[in-house]
Amino acid sequence: MPSIRQTRRRFLSNGLAVSGGLALGSTSRTGFAAMQAVGAAKASAATQDITGKNSLKAHAARKKLLIGAAVEAQLLNSDAGVAKIVTDQFSILVAENSMKVGPMRPRPTAYSFEAGDALVAFGDAHGIKVRGHNLCWHAQLPTWFNSYVTKDNAKQVLTDHIAVVAGHYKGKLHSWDVVNEAIQVSDNMPGGMRNGPWYKVLPDFIPIAFQAARAADPNVLLTYNDYGIETDSDGDTKKRAAILELVRGMQANKVPIDAVGIQSHIHTSWTADNAKGFREWMATLRGMGLKLFATELDINDDTMNTDDPAEIDAAVSKVYHDYIDMLMNEPAVEAVITWGVTDAHTWLAGRRPTGPRPPGMRPAGQGGQPGAPAGAPAAPPPAQAQVLPPPANGADVQPPGPPPGQAALHRAPERPLLFGADNNPKSAFFAMRDSIDRRKV
Ligand code: GLA
Repeated sequence: MPSIRQTRRRFLSNGLAVSGGLALGSTSRTGFAAMQAVGAAKASAATQDITGKNSLKAHAARKKLLIGAAVEAQLLNSDAGVAKIVTDQFSILVAENSMKVGPMRPRPTAYSFEAGDALVAFGDAHGIKVRGHNLCWHAQLPTWFNSYVTKDNAKQVLTDHIAVVAGHYKGKLHSWDVVNEAIQVSDNMPGGMRNGPWYKVLPDFIPIAFQAARAADPNVLLTYNDYGIETDSDGDTKKRAAILELVRGMQANKVPIDAVGIQSHIHTSWTADNAKGFREWMATLRGMGLKLFATELDINDDTMNTDDPAEIDAAVSKVYHDYIDMLMNEPAVEAVITWGVTDAHTWLAGRRPTGPRPPGMRPAGQGGQPGAPAGAPAAPPPAQAQVLPPPANGADVQPPGPPPGQAALHRAPERPLLFGADNNPKSAFFAMRDSIDRRKV
C-alpha cells in the first residue's frame, strides 16, 4: 500500500506538476493577455527568470510590503532548491515549528534555541527579516505542561518563558506572535475566549503575555495572531468581533499591541464577495493604529471535486489573485507570508479527505464536468467527503495518515503554495506577483 509520500512522488514523477502563467478567470488589467498567453507561459515558466528585479521580494519592496514564508533552518540546510527559492524570493521568514513553546522549552528549565538561532543566522546572512512564532498558544505545548502548570505557578511559567525566549531574541526579530489563537467563540467563554490550557489556569494570560513581551524586547512588533476570520461566514464574523473587542480592551488598558496576524489558511472556495465584513474589519483595525500581517497564507483545495493538477492550480491561483488584491487594497497590510515554501513540504500534506475517491471525482488528467463519466452517479457535494478539521491544532508536526486498516488516500497531493514540489513557480506565484504590482502606494 503506497504511503502518502510515495503517492506524491509517483504523482510528480508522472510530470503532472504544472507551473507557469496566470491561469485566472480574473478581472485584472493584465488578466486577458495573460490568459491568452497561458499555454506558452506554462511551457516556459520553469525557465523564466524570476530572480533579481523579477523576484517577489523586489516587486513587494516597491510596494512597501514584506513577503515571506514559514520554513525551518534544517530544511534550508538540507534542500538547496528550497534555500535558493527563499534567498531569491523572500524578505521575511518565520519558523514553522521550532520557536513554539513545546520545541523551544523541552523541560521547565531548559530551552532549545538551536533551530531558531539557525534561522535568525540564515536571515542575517541573506538580509532576510525573521518573525517569531509563538510565545503562547494552546497547541504544541511541551509534554510537561499539564502535569507541571497550575493556577499557582502559571503566571510565573508564562512570564519566565517570555522573558527568556523574547529576551534571547531581543533586537533580532521583526515581530512576535505573542499570543496565537486565543479566541474560540463556540467555547462560550466570556469575550469569546478559547477554553484552552492557558485560559483554564490563567484567564488573564493575554495582557500578561503582551506586557512580558514588551518588557523583554522594547522594539519588536507585538502581534495577536488567529485563523478563521477571512470570510463573512457567521463563525468568522463572530470571531472577528471578539478579536476586535479583545484589541479594544487591550488598548483601553494600555496593554501593548502593534499588529494583528491574519493567518489566512483559506480554501479555493474563498471569494472577495464573501469578505466585505472582513475588509471593513481590517480598516477598523487600521483606524485603531494596528498593523496587519497575513501570517500563514495557503490555499487548500480539499473541497474541490477534482484531482486534476491543472484545475487545482487554476483555482488556487485565482484565489491568490483575489485574496492578495484585497490585501493590497488595505494599506495596513505590511507583510504577506505563506505557510511553507513548496508543495513538497506543506503541512496540509496528508490532511486530504481520506478513503476512496468519491463517485464522480475526476482523477488527474481527466478533465470535463464533475462526475463526467456518462451515466456515472452524480458527484457528491464536497461536504460529503471527510474533511479534516481546520488548521490550528499543530498537527503539522505529524500529519495524520489514513486511520489504521483504512485504504490509502485516493486523492492527489495538495497544491496550496506558490512553488510546486519540483521547486518551480506555479501560476499562483505569477498571480501573487501581479496582484502585488497592482497595489497603489
Ligand atoms: C496554526 C499555527 C501554525 C501552524 C498551523 C498549521 O495556524 O499558528 O503554527 O501550526 O496551524 O500547521
